[in-house]
Amino acid sequence: MSIDFRSLPVNKQFMRVLVKPDTWLLNGISLDNAAPHPHVVIGDDKAIIIDTTDLNLELRKYVEQYVTDKPLMVASTHSHGDHTANNYMFSDCPIYMTEVAWKEIQENRKKKDDRHPDWALGDYTPIIIGDGDIIDLGGRKLECIKFCGCHSDSSIVYLDLKYGCLFTGDEFEGGQVLVMGAKGKNCIEMYRDNLVELKKKINGRATCICPPHNGSPIDILLLDYMIENCERIMAGHEGMKDVRSMTFGLNPHGYDIGMFADMDNVRRSEWMGTSLVYNTKRIFYKDCE
Ligand SMILES: [Fe+2]
Repeated sequence: MSIDFRSLPVNKQFMRVLVKPDTWLLNGISLDNAAPHPHVVIGDDKAIIIDTTDLNLELRKYVEQYVTDKPLMVASTHSHGDHTANNYMFSDCPIYMTEVAWKEIQENRKKKDDRHPDWALGDYTPIIIGDGDIIDLGGRKLECIKFCGCHSDSSIVYLDLKYGCLFTGDEFEGGQVLVMGAKGKNCIEMYRDNLVELKKKINGRATCICPPHNGSPIDILLLDYMIENCERIMAGHEGMKDVRSMTFGLNPHGYDIGMFADMDNVRRSEWMGTSLVYNTKRIFYKDCE
């Protein structure tokens, strides 16, 4: 079933939630509860949309009419189409992403993709960013921190140096993190090491995690619980065979992801409010050689 929500009045297409001062989560209307939601971070001179998503809604009009009148920029956390498909709406704005993300987006746009028919629209050339780069909004800066590809090889996270929001994309979220980067070959040990490294780089400067899926913000304490979740799996605690959640495995996209070709070995591990969906054959680095 499809409903054209884009024909609704623009102010009915999103519900905005204040995460921190000048920091909005835009909950877009959709039938597919798996869809991600953009954040808008506003500085003195500019505003940046983190993950434009693939919501078939008037995102740009909504932001310009109801959120901010500052000049817009875009930052993508990773290449996946559900996070980047609407970048075409901002082709006249600076768009930031990693080199790997841009390479993957170009490859994906060559393919026929029924879920993202707008792939080929609005060619743009992004500004490539990497670890340690700073995006300056005027009186507010975002630090780019490399995350070495557990959900996606193309990932980068953004730390808001003013209010301590950490924008993680799909490398950390409240429903489940799918450890599926490098075509499903990345392992729990690598994810654990990434989280430990991230915590070191944050060095106490983050107060909350702002993911695009399944609720934002999340308490920064959950970073520690996710590290524990990884360590429990590495110590032999096996997750549940039923990997479904409120937002995963019940929608039409279901298991249409590479890592789930091997469903017999996929598990869900839940610990202290964190959830990981992973493959029991890919726990340690040695499993992925
Ligand atoms: Fe993703």
